[in-house]
Amino acid sequence: TGTMRVNEKGHLEIGGVDTVDLAREFGTPLYILDEEEFRKNCREYYQNFTQKHPGSLAIYAGKTLLTTAICRLVEEEGLGLDVVSGGELYTAIKADFPLHKVYFHGNNKSPEEIRLGVEAGVGRFVVDNLYELYLLNDIAKSYKVRQPILLRVSPGIEAHTHEYIKTGQIDSKFGFPIETGQAMDAAQRALELDGIELKGFHCHIGSQIFELESFAHTVEVMTAFMAEVFKATGFMTEELDLGGGLGIYYAEGDNPPTVAAMAETIFTTLESQCQKLGLKVPKVIVEPGRSIAGPAGSTLYTIGAIKDIPGIRTYVAVDGGMGDNPRPALYQAKYEAIVANKANDQPVKLVSIAGKCCESGDMLIWDIELAEIKPGDLLLVSNTGAYNYSMAMNYNRLPRPAMVLVGGGKAELIVRRETYDDLLSHDLIPAHLKTRK
Ligand code: LLP
Repeated sequence: TGTMRVNEKGHLEIGGVDTVDLAREFGTPLYILDEEEFRKNCREYYQNFTQKHPGSLAIYAGKTLLTTAICRLVEEEGLGLDVVSGGELYTAIKADFPLHKVYFHGNNKSPEEIRLGVEAGVGRFVVDNLYELYLLNDIAKSYKVRQPILLRVSPGIEAHTHEYIKTGQIDSKFGFPIETGQAMDAAQRALELDGIELKGFHCHIGSQIFELESFAHTVEVMTAFMAEVFKATGFMTEELDLGGGLGIYYAEGDNPPTVAAMAETIFTTLESQCQKLGLKVPKVIVEPGRSIAGPAGSTLYTIGAIKDIPGIRTYVAVDGGMGDNPRPALYQAKYEAIVANKANDQPVKLVSIAGKCCESGDMLIWDIELAEIKPGDLLLVSNTGAYNYSMAMNYNRLPRPAMVLVGGGKAELIVRRETYDDLLSHDLIPAHLKTRK
């Protein structure tokens, strides 16, 4: 994907940089982010939403992959930013991201997080529950501001995706359900609060979605709700945020629709529904994460131990695993890989890729055909840009990898590799344990 190609040495190149050189210079495991691909994916959203439908906005979902350098890329490409925590918001603040284009999500924002958001002047709070609504109202009033918000509603739609990443159904920790009347009640309450300015509604039906009908159906449910709100309160929805969710290719069989097709489905349905229901067509917000960062990232590993269990399986162990990519262990997520220093060699052997954590479930890929390999060869796992670095952990005290941004034949470090001392930097020894008895 992206700017990947094989050079005359038979090495895989990304952004014009030889992956063998990357391994030598930055070490492995290494996250590689393809700048051109990341920007191109941002631009797809910018063009199909903001440019074709002025006022509409794509906000990049920071939970997918966020660092200060990534904030810069997102800003330059004209997108807003969806943050879900004080930590993500702080990243945006430190990167000087335009805060009026920040949408603050989360189902349990703390008073400190809410204060940080109001003080920073984030564009929208996406309010999840009544506790937050009243807390935000009080805090906004104490700052003498009227905070623009969207209310997160749960439309009761299940997108066809993995059980753990479904968030749109009624029985969910997220949002006010429409069906129970709680969404209407929240809208009525929001309209009465002095510290709150209701702008519209938000929903998110899931992730890694391939069926565009689920987006069309969501628009139908949301516009029907908007019409009910208008009838009951006279409030005309200005903004409709449909969340993220567009799927990407990971492995054979994945056939995601394009951003253009998704936008087309959304706007066609929205315009006809609004006309039918007597509504003003609202500004549309979408919150793509995976479809921007996923295909732009890959992870480079060094192959170590190769264990052949005759007649059963060959385990090929790499120097990372569930610590840098927990998705296969958590969701049985599928990935593809290639031997980066032998990218022209034919696949000759069926193997399985193991991580190095002390856990049998730490397997990155089951059953993949690879070229003839030996310890020291480099393995590149593709499409790891989304929910890998952002979900990485230090299980077994493995330091988290570095990340390089590649493009135009250059590589720049955007996250430095953790050291053993970084791992110890939060450890403290209480006085009574300091001196040996
Ligand atoms: N907006 C909201 C409110 C969300 O909850 C999410 C993802 C997004 C936007 C971005 O969705 P995307 O475009 O990336 O599908 N850790 C899981 C994915 C969790 C998704 C959570 N919400 C994984 O690794 O597959």
